[in-house]
Amino acid sequence: MPSKHFLITLFFFLLISCNTLSASTSSEKQDTVDFVRPIDRKLLGLNKKEKLSHFKFYWHDIVSGKNPTSIVVIPPSLNSNTAFGSVRMIDNPLTLGPQLNSKIVGKAQGFYASACKDEVDLLMAMNFAFTEGKYNGSTLTILGRNAVFHKVREMPVIGGSGVFRFARGYAEANTHSIDFKSEDACVEYNVHVFHY
Ligand SMILES: *[C@@H]1O[C@H](CO)[C@@H](O)[C@H](O)[C@H]1NC(C)=O
Repeated sequence: MPSKHFLITLFFFLLISCNTLSASTSSEKQDTVDFVRPIDRKLLGLNKKEKLSHFKFYWHDIVSGKNPTSIVVIPPSLNSNTAFGSVRMIDNPLTLGPQLNSKIVGKAQGFYASACKDEVDLLMAMNFAFTEGKYNGSTLTILGRNAVFHKVREMPVIGGSGVFRFARGYAEANTHSIDFKSEDACVEYNVHVFHY
């Protein structure tokens, strides 16, 4: 009767030799193993020409009142002029015009965090979740740096879902107005994005 140890050693030996064997096969064959295979782009409708679209809307950061859409989830560190370290979660309305009561085309959902110790630079991580027309249910994902006191801030569009699968592009943010009493802000967003 072989010992337990011997069987375990044999098992690992076989395992390792299997790996060595498959590693020595051609790279073409490796691309078709188990969990990945190349497919025709027609199957996903990606043979169509890519479109370039320009979206323009307004982003409302409502921090005041009974029904804020932007709330502090991590407060700033005490000795910071830039609220360094603070994080706000947002579910901000996106509207066609700068007025809050203009048509809502979606929401900006995510968070932003103060990421700089000597000026107000935010790390923005948010999804634009659209609700309008053929874009209803589709999202664009923004991840970037927002130096809020600069005139125009550019942030990458790193991807999307629904009609925005495989999307890429950039968003430009330009502050439209800030109410210095309530601290509510309205920011114009211009988004250029490639998608199918
Ligand atoms: C968007 O889609 C949802 C879910 O399918 C639906 O309930 C809603 O009425 C749609 N909104 C618009 C503006 O078409």
